Formats: sequence, structure tokens, C-alpha cells
Amino acid sequence: MTFIRSKVVGLGSYLPSKVISNNELSRTVDTSDEWIRERTGIVQRHISETETTAEMGIKAAQNALIDAHLLSSDIDALIVATSTPDLTLPSTATLIASALKIKGFAFDISAACSGFVYGLTIADALLKTGSARRILLIGSERLSKIIDWTDRNTCVLFGDGAGAFILEASEAIGSLADEGILDTLLCADAQEYHLLHTSGGIASTGTSGVIQMNGREVFRHAVMKLEDVALEILKRHSLTGDDIDWFIPHQANARIIDSTAKRLGLSSGKVIMTVHQHANTSAASIPLAFEQAVKEKKVKKGDLILLDAMGAGLTWGAVLLRY
Ligand code: ACO
Repeated sequence: MTFIRSKVVGLGSYLPSKVISNNELSRTVDTSDEWIRERTGIVQRHISETETTAEMGIKAAQNALIDAHLLSSDIDALIVATSTPDLTLPSTATLIASALKIKGFAFDISAACSGFVYGLTIADALLKTGSARRILLIGSERLSKIIDWTDRNTCVLFGDGAGAFILEASEAIGSLADEGILDTLLCADAQEYHLLHTSGGIASTGTSGVIQMNGREVFRHAVMKLEDVALEILKRHSLTGDDIDWFIPHQANARIIDSTAKRLGLSSGKVIMTVHQHANTSAASIPLAFEQAVKEKKVKKGDLILLDAMGAGLTWGAVLLRY
């Protein structure tokens, strides 16, 4: 029997050129470079002045197509994970598909900072059932548009950007030695949605609203849930942290990442950390970190990689893949 794996055949990213340092932020809100670095690890964030979520996603997608040596006509499905769509309808995915002349089916998913892990799980299922042969998955966010720039509790934490994977259905033997997505695990606890939400929405206030968060509680949940889901997916395959080549978690806070890595028994040499440069770019953070790690020649083809994310909802999940 043929076994299908979803292989990562192309990576792309895009960051807007404007960079705002902690010191610059401290001129407009009551904060300091020292506080932000100590509590979050963040040093700077990229902020889009004019580019929309779709426009950043298009650039990340074009870079992924170049990386994969493919044309947009080779893509037969497009999924965009975002919390900051350009329009209420149609989806950002269809706007990107229109610009790139992709003819396959296209839709958005909303799972906040877990969006890319949710997207990988959906893409994997579509490839395994034969609904598509090649999927372009994009995480793109213009979070600067849903931030209250006078609220020091939230405005220091987020940034804009986009990352993309091209996934291809590939025949495999069905073992952990296969290249591609090996397993996925998704979770949600809707009872805790109130911990992190926007102050409005199209069907309630008629506006997008701004991010409001109980930071301390979100932090507490993140540390527990990221560890739990990572341990569970490893356990399913009789693996431990020692077997993993790279841990690429959602980039929200260096303290959350360090704590999760420690609980998983991973040395810091196996952890990809980009939060200091990008801040929290929600659904874009994992593909941005992944591509940077490949460019820096840390992550190599054949490496066993664990992805882990938690975000609003609360939603969380993990993906085990061999690059
Ligand atoms: N500059 C200076 N002081 C600040 C700032 C700031 N930017 N923000 C908050 N403070 C103050 C608070 O007002 C508080 O003051 P008070 O004691 O006088 O009331 C004090 O700092 C301490 O606040 P805490 O909430 O205890 O600070 P903590 O150490 O928990 O750090 C932080 C706050 C960074 C928000 C942390 O809780 C966190 O990272 N939580 C996770 C949030 C997150 O990452 N959300 C993103 C989406 S979910 C995800 O991606 C996992």
C-alpha cells in the first residue's frame, strides 16, 4: 500500500522594511528597552507602513515558489492562516491566488498564533486524501492594525510579516525515517477564550477591535500547554527531546520558549529563536523562524523537527516533521 507524506518542498518569507526598536517605542508609551528585553526577549519588530496581509503573503509565496523551483500553475490549493485579513470577504487566500494566478481552491483559517500549526494539519489531511497534490500554506499578519499603540501591556509584543511553505504529496514507506509531516496534534480550550481577544469584530462592533490580553494567565497556559502537546506527540512515537534535531516553536516570548525547551529536556542549541528580531508575528512566526534557520544553515534536509504553538482561543498544537 502506498503511504503519502506531505513534504516541505519550498520555503519563503517576507518582512516589511520598517523596523521599530524598543527604544523608539519607549518614546511613545511608558516602557523601556530593559523591561521589554527582560520580560520577553524582544529587541525590535518589523511594522508594515502600507503593505497589507495579502501583499506580504504574495511576497512570501513568490519566494517559496522560487525556492521550490515551481510556478504558480503548479499549485492546486492555497491556505492562508491569518487573524488580520485584508477584507471581511473574500478570503485573503483568494486575493493572493488572484495576484499569483493560482487556479486551485483557496481559503483562510483563523486560529490566531496556532494558525500555522492548524494550517499544516489541514494541508496534510488534504494531501493525504488526494484533494490536492501541492499546497501553498501562508501565515501572514498585519498585527500592527489591531494593536492599541497606547497600551504598553500589548503594543510591545507584536510585529508584522509573512512566511510560506509549499507542501507536496510524496510517496513514502510510512516510517519515522520518511521526509515530510510525520504527525500532527491539535487542541483547543474554548473556556479560556476571554484571556486573549480583540475588543471588537465585524459582526459585533462593526470594527476589527484591538488586542486585549491577560498576559500573566496567557503566559501560564502557554508554558503548560506547549509542554503537554509536545510531550504527547513525542510519546506517540516513543521519542524524547534527545531524538529531536530542532525545536521551532511559535515566537511569542523568549521566557516561554526557554521554559518549554527546558521542560522537554532540550538544550538551547536545538532551539530556534527569532522573537528578538521579529517579536510575535502570530501565524507567520513559525514559517519565518523556520526559513531563517534554514538560511543560517542550522536546519538541514533530513532533520527531525518539532513545531509547537499556542494562541488565542485558546488553541494550541504540535507538528512533528522531517525536513
Ligand atoms: N513596560 C513596562 N512595564 C510594563 C509593560 C511594559 N511594556 N507591560 C506591563 N508592564 C507592567 C505591568 O503594568 C505590571 O505593573 P504593575 O505590577 O504595577 O501592575 C508589571 O509590568 C508586571 O506585569 P506582569 O503582567 O506581571 O509582567 P510579566 O512578567 O507577566 O510579563 C508579559 C508580561 C510580557 C505580557 C508576559 O505575561 C507574557 O509574555 N505573557 C504572554 C503573552 C503573549 O505572548 N501573548 C501573545 C499571544 S499568545 C502566545 O503567543 C503564546
